[in-house]
Amino acid sequence: MAQPLAERLRPKTLDDYIGQKHLVGPGAVLRKMIDAGRISSFILWGPPGVGKTTLAQIIANKLETPFYTLSAVTSGVKDVRDVIEKARSNRFFSQASPILFIDEIHRLNRVVEEILYPAMEDFAIDIMIGKGPTARSIRVAVPKFTLVGATTRAGQLSAPLRDRFGILFRLEMYKPEELAQIVRRSASILEIDAEDAGIMEIARRSRGTPRIANRMLKRVRDYAQVRGGGVISLDVAREAIAMQGVDELGLDKVDRAVLGTMMDKFGGGPVGLDTLAATTGEDAVTIEDVYEPYLMQLGFLMRTPRGRMCTPTAWEHMKRTPPGQGNDNQLKMEL
Ligand code: ADE
Repeated sequence: MAQPLAERLRPKTLDDYIGQKHLVGPGAVLRKMIDAGRISSFILWGPPGVGKTTLAQIIANKLETPFYTLSAVTSGVKDVRDVIEKARSNRFFSQASPILFIDEIHRLNRVVEEILYPAMEDFAIDIMIGKGPTARSIRVAVPKFTLVGATTRAGQLSAPLRDRFGILFRLEMYKPEELAQIVRRSASILEIDAEDAGIMEIARRSRGTPRIANRMLKRVRDYAQVRGGGVISLDVAREAIAMQGVDELGLDKVDRAVLGTMMDKFGGGPVGLDTLAATTGEDAVTIEDVYEPYLMQLGFLMRTPRGRMCTPTAWEHMKRTPPGQGNDNQLKMEL
């Protein structure tokens, strides 16, 4: 069966992995651990879509060790036992321990945690045999795992969880030039004909996120095919991206609603996250994890002890005048 598209685009080696040089560039701590072939459990922290799973898989490939995944949100006790059982029966010859990747680890369920951590610490799990009064439990040895946790919210990790992991590596959003390299690579894998200016346009407007850039590339490709020619030129990219409701800097409707609400209803802030969520109709967690990181990266939004605030450049981008510097918004607020 053909590989799913996302899999085909995922880099398999560090040489193909673009960006995050502070983690995997020459001399960086994680790079040194990988090169030495010895990694201890760690956390990858960063916004959605910046390549946390990809990086963990690359590390497993490089260390030639099995890679198992669990989602902290959807996996139950049975999934954990299945993974442990699979790892037990899988003969592998690498020096490195198999990697167990747990996505959204800040949401790890207590029951799952209770099986997983003793397994990590004692290399054994207790399995119940039989039911009712004759039930008994036996200890079964499990392989030593290296745990890699991924999270969008490092602030929600409990202290015991942090202690178990030791190191926290932060993934950053990508610069437009880095995203352009990713889009160029994806276009080549998918045999899409794209001009440099078209690629750069997609990169600039994909909010620093490879997942979004790859998705945008496919949408622009579809548009290019319909519009004729099939080539992604600068004009084709611009038109296709505008049709998605994405602006010059990559802000979508929700980003603009967040900024617009802050400006029109709260004079640009400070405004609390929950109030912002209630007035925009978006989930507070989504605003914090998905929208804010990019708005902060653009320098449009600041977190202050009293709440979120828009910066002067945000006002400029939204073509509005801050209160006190003109009369439009001030007037609106007083009415
Ligand atoms: N896809 C997702 N993340 C990537 C990266 N850092 N480099 C190349 N392709 C990617």
